[in-house]
Amino acid sequence: MTKSVRYETVALDDDNGALVILDQTLLPNDVVYLNLTRQDQIFEAIRSLRVRGAPAIGVAAAIGVYLAAKSVQTDDYDEFYERFKNAKDYLAGSRPTAVNLFRALDRMEDVVKAQKGAPTAHIKEALRDETGLILEEDAAACRSIGEHGLALLRDGDGILTHCNAGYLAASKYGTALAPIHLGVERGYRFRVFVDETRPLLQGARLTAFELCASGAETTLICDNMASSVMKNGWVQAVFVGCDRLAANGDACNKIGTSGVAILAKHYGIPFYVCAPTSTIDIHCATGDGIPIEQRPPEEVTELWYTGRMAPAGVNVYNPAFDVTDCALITGVVTERGVLRPPYGESISDAMGTDMRQTGEKKASGALY
Ligand code: MRU
Repeated sequence: MTKSVRYETVALDDDNGALVILDQTLLPNDVVYLNLTRQDQIFEAIRSLRVRGAPAIGVAAAIGVYLAAKSVQTDDYDEFYERFKNAKDYLAGSRPTAVNLFRALDRMEDVVKAQKGAPTAHIKEALRDETGLILEEDAAACRSIGEHGLALLRDGDGILTHCNAGYLAASKYGTALAPIHLGVERGYRFRVFVDETRPLLQGARLTAFELCASGAETTLICDNMASSVMKNGWVQAVFVGCDRLAANGDACNKIGTSGVAILAKHYGIPFYVCAPTSTIDIHCATGDGIPIEQRPPEEVTELWYTGRMAPAGVNVYNPAFDVTDCALITGVVTERGVLRPPYGESISDAMGTDMRQTGEKKASGALY
């Protein structure tokens, strides 16, 4: 029996005024925890993907803005609020796509607003408590996504995943990997195919590391091998994470995800997006409204290589995410259950809001 090992991704060390993260740029070779006390360190850690994955950067930003607020020495509410807002705006500029970052920062601002006029020491305590709540809610959501996702699988299934949407990207269990982790704990024997996920190799470096540490049977493939693996009949389901789910069900996730969805449709394989409701952006009617992060060309031309692997001066297009059309998605696995098409309705029901007028662009339209 393989021994299961699990790592903590992101935490608050309140005594030392630090955000503690597992530096994911060093995985799988080195397990190094960083204690980040300065705002520029926290910003850099999010931007350079030392801490990454939609839920995890939300938690990191919440802790970051709490630490900024904690260091403000004033009893004047207006001054406190202004300094808090500056810190919030600064961290909000670290990455543009995952909505969890903005939602977590907004939650923190709501705390400050709700305590208007209270002693700043009380506001700081409330902010610290809110970071704990965000972390706990994320862990509970991941666990629940695991249960709902596992109900879609059978012992022995082959599962393909893209990027890393495991506990390294969230607080516990993760999202797309949660059903796998839970299943492995319960004795299921899954065969998991992991796309390496060019250019930053979140699949090869992080998902393979996480699944091997959990004792799951893991096979790493290059991104261009997914079609072949599916054609062989080795994949019974695809599970991926999500950075922002639009109101109509369009799902933005790591670049390459939409291609996997198109392949899955071709081979008749169910394609599931796993996302806590904190990843749903009801203000974004369709995927067209989701900002896609563009990343430095060096990630494509030289990172991971011993020398340059492309001629100097070549144009590089390096979007970090793409949008999977809702018509390609079999189900969205949330902590509140599995949402099915038409997503305009099921998302609206799950979120408890009526957005049927805004969200339904093409949710029920089939591509094939
Ligand atoms: O650029 P990254 O590594 O932050 O991208 C992460 C992803 O695309 C994940 O699939 C997504 O954030 C879901 S994490 C539970």
